[in-house]
Amino acid sequence: MEIESRAFPDPWSPQAFRLTRSYASWVCLLDELLIGYCICLIVEDEASIANIAIEPAHQNKGYGTGLLQYSLVELKIMGARRIYLDVRRSNIAALMLYSKFGFRTMGIRKNYYNAPPEDALVMCWEETDERI
Ligand SMILES: CC(C)(COP(=O)(O)OP(=O)(O)OC[C@H]1O[C@@H](n2cnc3c(N)ncnc32)[C@H](O)[C@@H]1OP(=O)(O)O)[C@@H](O)C(=O)NCCC(=O)NCCS
Repeated sequence: MEIESRAFPDPWSPQAFRLTRSYASWVCLLDELLIGYCICLIVEDEASIANIAIEPAHQNKGYGTGLLQYSLVELKIMGARRIYLDVRRSNIAALMLYSKFGFRTMGIRKNYYNAPPEDALVMCWEETDERI
């Protein structure tokens, strides 16, 4: 929750984290300190990335790339052939990260986010992409 509240303008509530307790999740550890997490839902051959964040003091150092790479490989092993996510259209760091792994924009959810209001881009990675 501490990382979440520092990483997002509209952080998840504790209840939102509890609701994803059964999801597939991976964390990023730096000298045994938790500095990031990736929370994913997988249903049959489709997965979605529900949340991913790196502690702001450790952003832009490659940890997000490492965490996402690991999570995507694990999701593939678990049978995911398509992986979806939503992202604020102004979130350049996240867009850079996802495009590195071959995620493509499939659609827009108008005014999907609050505080501040913003559209979401819906992105998808498909098994045919060989970057993972
Ligand atoms: C998105 C996030 C997880 C990326 O993690 P990270 O550890 O900072 O990412 P990396 O250091 O691995 O960098 C990934 C790419 O994003 C780019 N990037 C990272 N921070 C950036 C910034 N502030 N501005 C522009 N680009 C940035 C990097 O250049 C890198 O691309 P490159 O390897 O081609 O240079 C992290 O910024 C974060 O937690 N943001 C807040 C929460 C969030 O927005 N989560 C995503 C919700 S959809």
